[in-house]
Amino acid sequence: MTVPPAPWALLAEVTHACPLHCPYCSNPVELVRRSRELATADWERVFGEAADLGVVQAHVSGGEPLLRPDLAAIVAAAHRAGVYTQLVTSGVGLTATRLEELVKAGLNSVQLSVQDARAPGSDLIAGRVSYADKGRAAGVIRAAGVPFGLNVVLHRHNLDHLPEIIALGAAWGAERIELANVQFYGWALRNRAALLPAREQLDRAKATLAAHRDAHPEGGPELVWVMPDYYEGVPKPCMGGWGMRSITVGPDGTALPCPAAYAIEGLAPPNVRDRSLSWIWTESPAFAAYRGTGWMTGPCGTCPRRETDFGGCRCQAFALTGDAARTDPACSLSPDHHLIRDLVEGLHETAVDGGESRTAATVPSGFVYRRPT
Ligand code: SF4
Ligand code: FES
Repeated sequence: MTVPPAPWALLAEVTHACPLHCPYCSNPVELVRRSRELATADWERVFGEAADLGVVQAHVSGGEPLLRPDLAAIVAAAHRAGVYTQLVTSGVGLTATRLEELVKAGLNSVQLSVQDARAPGSDLIAGRVSYADKGRAAGVIRAAGVPFGLNVVLHRHNLDHLPEIIALGAAWGAERIELANVQFYGWALRNRAALLPAREQLDRAKATLAAHRDAHPEGGPELVWVMPDYYEGVPKPCMGGWGMRSITVGPDGTALPCPAAYAIEGLAPPNVRDRSLSWIWTESPAFAAYRGTGWMTGPCGTCPRRETDFGGCRCQAFALTGDAARTDPACSLSPDHHLIRDLVEGLHETAVDGGESRTAATVPSGFVYRRPT
């Protein structure tokens, strides 16, 4: 069995409840109901155990974590344990008073999401009017002087707005903009046909990004490009390797090596209500299942890149082939690569409404919005 290094990060999904309805939602298809959420005291124990294991950073996420009335107490528990905390938020409900309360509790940074550069496009993807709330939240974060990152999921309906998105991040005062090309598992897989861009569109966006970086070698926000693995022929080193860097604890205490791994059948994930985080990390079968390289079969087993990309993404392998132990179909060496190659090769640009003229009434065909269960 591979002996794991100390985990670096904890993703604390304190609730799955969310005011937005994004079609690319990364939360599981079956959401955890509010009545099953961990209590404040459970989170306090989890953060203490995480710190003992070596975790240095917690992403306090959801859903929308601001929907937890005890969020400041949760953040304070992480802070007391000595863990750096980042709030991951839609911005809906982030008032100056609420942020002040969180900062006093020990919050270290905020990551705000926005769905597009302008209100019509952003509200359309979010499935409700929310862009103005996000602008207000950005002002509140900047006024508080807290380190501020902006996250934008990129897809067919906003990739052409990249220059405006970058300008928006700079105008809102973000120090970092994460340009996260949509990943297709969970709810997003249901919307793949409506979200997947064509290669020409992605190439244009990459050229825009390179030109922007050349024109602003030092100034402006740091731009982080999360690769669109459907087009690269090489898989992403998902999660930095299964069970190697990060622990996700879901709203009901389910512990997973990856937030999307709820969907992997047969994994039998442990729960922090029953087990210590130390046991979960070092001894649980779920965390050991795809750790290291011993589990690899097929082309990964002898591939020189197996210590670099760890065979790609287990959740994507499961979602597309039904077997999480297969090589990620995003890899050009995978016997299942045709599942992705045939899809993207057959895809060519069709006119996409630029968003400026869109209203919430013109939902792109095929969109399935996320709704609470
Ligand atoms: Fe990575 Fe496996 Fe593909 Fe090699 S065969 S590049 S290890 S996914
Ligand atoms: Fe779960 Fe990649 S998203 S391993």
